[in-house]
Amino acid sequence: MNKNTLSVTDNRTGKIYEIPIEHGAVPAIDFRQIKESEDDFGLMCYDPSYSNTAACRSNITYIDGDKGILLYRGYPIEQLAEECTFLECAYLTLYGELPTESQLSTFTHGVLRHTMIHENVKKFMEGFNYDAHPMSMLMSTVAALSTYYPESVDVRHEELRTEQVLRIVGQVPTLAAYCYRHRRGLPYNYPDDELGYVENLMHMLWKRTEHKYKPHPVLAKALEVLFILHLDHEQNCSSTTMRTAGSSLADPYVTTAAAIAALSGPLHGGANEAVLRMLDEIGSVNNIPAFIKEVKEGKRRLMGFGHRVYKNYDPRAKMIKRIADEVFEVTGRNPRLDTALELERIALQDEYFVARKLYPNVDFYSGIIYQAMGFNPAYFTVLFAIPRTPGWLAQWEEMLMDKEQKIARPRQLYLGYGHRDVVPMSERAESAVAV
Ligand code: SDX
Repeated sequence: MNKNTLSVTDNRTGKIYEIPIEHGAVPAIDFRQIKESEDDFGLMCYDPSYSNTAACRSNITYIDGDKGILLYRGYPIEQLAEECTFLECAYLTLYGELPTESQLSTFTHGVLRHTMIHENVKKFMEGFNYDAHPMSMLMSTVAALSTYYPESVDVRHEELRTEQVLRIVGQVPTLAAYCYRHRRGLPYNYPDDELGYVENLMHMLWKRTEHKYKPHPVLAKALEVLFILHLDHEQNCSSTTMRTAGSSLADPYVTTAAAIAALSGPLHGGANEAVLRMLDEIGSVNNIPAFIKEVKEGKRRLMGFGHRVYKNYDPRAKMIKRIADEVFEVTGRNPRLDTALELERIALQDEYFVARKLYPNVDFYSGIIYQAMGFNPAYFTVLFAIPRTPGWLAQWEEMLMDKEQKIARPRQLYLGYGHRDVVPMSERAESAVAV
C-alpha cells in the first residue's frame, strides 16, 4: 500500500483522517478538520521558529544541508562562482535563467543607470553620528528611498515592479558606499557607470584624489565571487522577513529595509562581524582551548559555526576559505586567519561540535577577508546585504506571483489568562513582575 497520504487517527475520537502528501509535505490546513467536538477550532501545527515548516513553494535556491549542496536555479554555486559574474547570477536568481549576451547587457544597463541617488539622501546620511552602525544607516536610507518613489507601492504593476527592482539593485551599493565614506569623514564618490557593478562599488568606496580609480583585479574578482556566494539562501531569516513584510503589499523599499534589519542580527548576517570580534577577543591560538571550554559550557557561541540547514561544511565557507589566500597575496596576510584555522581544526575534532554537526558557515572566513581589504568589522554585514538584495527581491517577486500566498498571519497557542475583570487601582496587589 503506497498511497501518497498520511492516515491520522485522533485517539480522542477514534476518527481516522487521510491527509495528502505532496513534495514531502502535508498541508497544515488539513489538520484543522481534526476536531474533538463540532465547536472545536481544529488542530494546528506548532512550530516555533518554523524549524519544520515550508512556508512557500520556491524555484529559486536549493540547499541540501546534509550533503552541503547549494544550487541557484539548479546551477551549483561552485560553477557559477567560477564562470559567471555577479550580475549574471543576479539575473539568474531574479528571472530564472542565465542571461544571453544581450539580456545581460540590457540588465546591466538597467542596473547601472540607477546607481545615482537623490541628492537629499546625503542629508539623511549627515544626520547620523560618524560611528553610527552602517547596517542601521543602510536600513534607514533604503526605507527612505520609498518616499522618492511613491509609485512603487503598486507592487502588482509588473513594469513598475521591474523598475524598482533594477533601481534597488543599483542604488544599494551607492548607499552602502556612502555609509562607508560617512564613517571615515570622506567625501562621497559619485558612481562611475563606465565600471562594472563590483568595480563601481570599489570606486565609490576607495577612490581618493586620483583622477580615475583603478580597481585591483584580484580584489574585484574576490568581491565578485564573495557576492555570488551571498546572493540567496532560500528561506533564511531575512528572506522570510522580506516575504512576510512584502505579503502586506508594502512597497519594495520598506520591505527590503525590513530584510536588512533581520540580516543585521548576530545569529544571521551579523555573524561575520561577530566572528572578527570573537577572533580579536581570543587573540592568540594559545587562548583557543579556554574559549572552546566556555563554548562547551554553554557560556559562548562559536560564531561563524553551525547552521539551521547545513549539517555539513557550508559549501560557501569552503570557497571563501580558498579566496582568502588570493586576497592576502595583495593585502598581506591577516594574522587572524591562523587563529581561525586553529579554531576550526580543534572544533572539528571535538565531540561537542561533531555531535551537533557544527561546521564553519558562510560567515566564518568572510570577515577575515573583508578586514584584510580594510573594512571595519561593523561594515561586514553591509557587504552581505549588498549581494543578498537581488536574492531578497527574487523571493519577494516569487511570493507576489504565487497565487497560494496571502498576507502572512500565523496562529498562536494562547496559554495566557482566561476572561478576568479590571480591578480598581486601590485593590491591586503588587504583581510578581516588578517593573
Ligand atoms: C547565516 O539561514 C541561512 O541560510 C542563513 C545564512 C544565509 O546565507 O542567509 O546561511 C547566513 O546566517 C549563517 C549563520 C550565521 N550565524 C552564526 O554563525 C551564529 C552562530 N551560530 C548559531 O547561533 C547557530 O548555529 C545558528 C543560529 C546558525 C543555527 O542555530 P539552530 O539551527 O537554531 O541550532 P540551535 O541553536 O538549536 O543549536 C543546536 C545545538 C544547541 O546545543 P544543545 O542545546 O543541543 O546542547 O547546537 C548548539 C546549540 O547550543 N550550537 C552551538 C552553535 N550553534 C549551535 N554551540 C556553539 N556554537 C555555535 N555556533
